[in-house]
Amino acid sequence: MGRIDQETVNRILDAADIVEVVSDFVKLRRSGANYKGLCPFHNERTPSFSVNKSRNICKCFSCGKGGSPVNFIMEHEQMSYQEALRYLARKYNIEVVEKEQTDEERQQQNDREAMLAVNEFALNHFRHNLLETPDGRDIALAYFRHRGLNDAMIERFRLGYSLDRSTALLDAARDGGYNEKYLLETGLAGKSEREGRTSLYDRFRGRVMFPILSISGRVVGFGGRTMRSDKTIAKYVNSPESLIYKKNLELYGLFQAKSAIAKRDKVILVEGYLDVISMHQAGVENVVASSGTSLTEGQIRALRRFTENVTLIYDADAAGIKASLRGINMLLAEKLNVKVLLLPPGDDPDSFAQSHSSSEVEQYLAENERDIIAFMTEVLMKDIPANDPTARAKVVNVILQSVAHVDEAVKRQEYISQCSRMLGIAEEVLVNQLNVLITGRYVEDEKNQRREEARKSIEGIEKEESARTAPAAEAPLLNLDANKLKPFEEMLARYLVRYGLLSIPMKGDDDKCALVPVFDVISSQLDIDNIGFTYAPYAAVYAAVKEMRNNEWPAEHARRMAEIEGEAEALLEQAREEIRQKGGSMEQLARLESEAQQRREVYIRASIDEFDMKWVQTRLVNSPDDAVRTTAVELMVDRYTLSKIYTKQGVSTEQDQLPTLVPRAIIELRNAIVADIITDLTRRLATEGASDPEKAMEIITQIGEYKEFQRRLAEILGDRIILPRQK
Ligand code: CTP
Ligand code: MN
Repeated sequence: MGRIDQETVNRILDAADIVEVVSDFVKLRRSGANYKGLCPFHNERTPSFSVNKSRNICKCFSCGKGGSPVNFIMEHEQMSYQEALRYLARKYNIEVVEKEQTDEERQQQNDREAMLAVNEFALNHFRHNLLETPDGRDIALAYFRHRGLNDAMIERFRLGYSLDRSTALLDAARDGGYNEKYLLETGLAGKSEREGRTSLYDRFRGRVMFPILSISGRVVGFGGRTMRSDKTIAKYVNSPESLIYKKNLELYGLFQAKSAIAKRDKVILVEGYLDVISMHQAGVENVVASSGTSLTEGQIRALRRFTENVTLIYDADAAGIKASLRGINMLLAEKLNVKVLLLPPGDDPDSFAQSHSSSEVEQYLAENERDIIAFMTEVLMKDIPANDPTARAKVVNVILQSVAHVDEAVKRQEYISQCSRMLGIAEEVLVNQLNVLITGRYVEDEKNQRREEARKSIEGIEKEESARTAPAAEAPLLNLDANKLKPFEEMLARYLVRYGLLSIPMKGDDDKCALVPVFDVISSQLDIDNIGFTYAPYAAVYAAVKEMRNNEWPAEHARRMAEIEGEAEALLEQAREEIRQKGGSMEQLARLESEAQQRREVYIRASIDEFDMKWVQTRLVNSPDDAVRTTAVELMVDRYTLSKIYTKQGVSTEQDQLPTLVPRAIIELRNAIVADIITDLTRRLATEGASDPEKAMEIITQIGEYKEFQRRLAEILGDRIILPRQK
């Protein structure tokens, strides 16, 4: 399947009604202007899931999940953005038009589809073998039984058997009309040249078959385990890499596990096929396998869609830990919370799950999980003799290297304290050493190398999802403290999300009033000072609105405007007709006519305003970009919105007040930036300036200039103390 054409996307987004979409899964009750129900994302007894029909978004005020219709479906059904759009298209009977593809793209698309089709055929063939042939039943099914698997699991994981013949699948596929080309490309068949003659043979022979499903449930490859005890035969044979099977992106069992992973907000990583299946059978369904290889960045990204909490199941030995250090560090660097679980000696997840009841397994998991760093420290130190300082130092270094991958300072500090206690080494010593590692090349190099690998490996996905990645925020000109600026940026970001392309009356340089979109007001002011958003999600929202402003919106706006004017004209004509019929004096008629004209203006303004506001809101809260979408939803549902604003003239709405609110928010941001710069300069005066009188003078002059600027800003702001609004 290709990407969906933009026109279709717009139609879907416009059609999708949050109340209707959510109602398919949640029983909703009216509650004031909104709807309420039990949150489908966590267990609860009293409803905290709220659906706002007019804003077309939903949100759980307890667990925070929700969003636009697309968001809701992505989250609830564990679908990708494109899948969710297709789901909604089906629901609303909207015909999906695929994006125009180049010939090459179309060819690739066809190849992919053909390969997936032949894999699906093979899967059914293997299942048939398992359940309907004597060999399948006597050998393979007996084997699964012997391993303790029940029918439900055989069904759920779509297990099968490849007959022990050299062309069983090939013959069946040829009979079914499948092209040999795709049998070769999927790796289901191999090719051999003997005595000048080429012939094809089945790759999988006499093996129980584990299909590998993509996140959306399509068969991308197979793993086959031999049924022979002969040690010279490979225990496992796997499908080769291909157009549809990128090993570093797939995780075995993810398709079956994804909803449990999201629901429990945790994933358990194991090694093998049977580990996954046996755990599922024991009722622990949030389990996937990396299939015996070490974890890759692409796999972590796939997991991240569902949770940030990862538990690894380990053998208790130092060798095991060392072998998987790279994977652990990668998980830490990706800001995942990593735990480990040690099984009783001699057990693997498969044997453990098979020999304990579901509740025993659950209980063991709950009681034996440990934080990764503490675990590493303990395991690695265990074998080091107390009188071997060199070996000790080496281990400390290994542990600190892992800690260095943690991005969050608070978490790092916790780890340091913990290690300090466990190792009996002073915290300062560890911190010093850690800083050497962090500032040193080591971590950076490794990160770069990883990025490089990741880029190569995910190029395919990237192409497909290029629209999803957030545009990088432009580099800030100064070293500003993003934390201090965030509350001020938030105000502007709110206005962008709610009113981004709404036109408001603004006075220009020529003192004339003109209607200008809120975005233009903000962007022109930011551009003057060459400032931008420092907080990346807001920067992404800004970029998204800018993109709409520059591309799709003007034409859409004009088109809708023409429609509205047509409607207004018809209404005016109707009013005139009524006036004519009523009759009256010339003055009365003239007054009625002018009132009708006014109503026409009001009608046009109100209709186009509503269109412009909805247009941006809908696209932002449904954006394919995760950062834009979540941020937009947050800014739409915030609780501290003033729907009424009290002014000297009386009560009015936020929308009415935008001509003063937006410029004020810009000035406040500017003021915060200046204050931050002054703080920075003052600090530099104390450090750099202390030993260099010339430098000091230069800084003092700068501070003076900024102070003057600040004074002028304060004047504009009416000298009021500026604080971010309280939530
Ligand atoms: N694996 C693989 N290819 C191999 C060896 C292993 O893909 N040549 C993967 C499989 O996913 C396998 C996992 O690594 O499930 C673990 O390997 P191993 O422990 O050897 O196999 P088990 O699945 O535990 O096999 P069994 O319990 O049936 O002996
Ligand atoms: Mn095993």
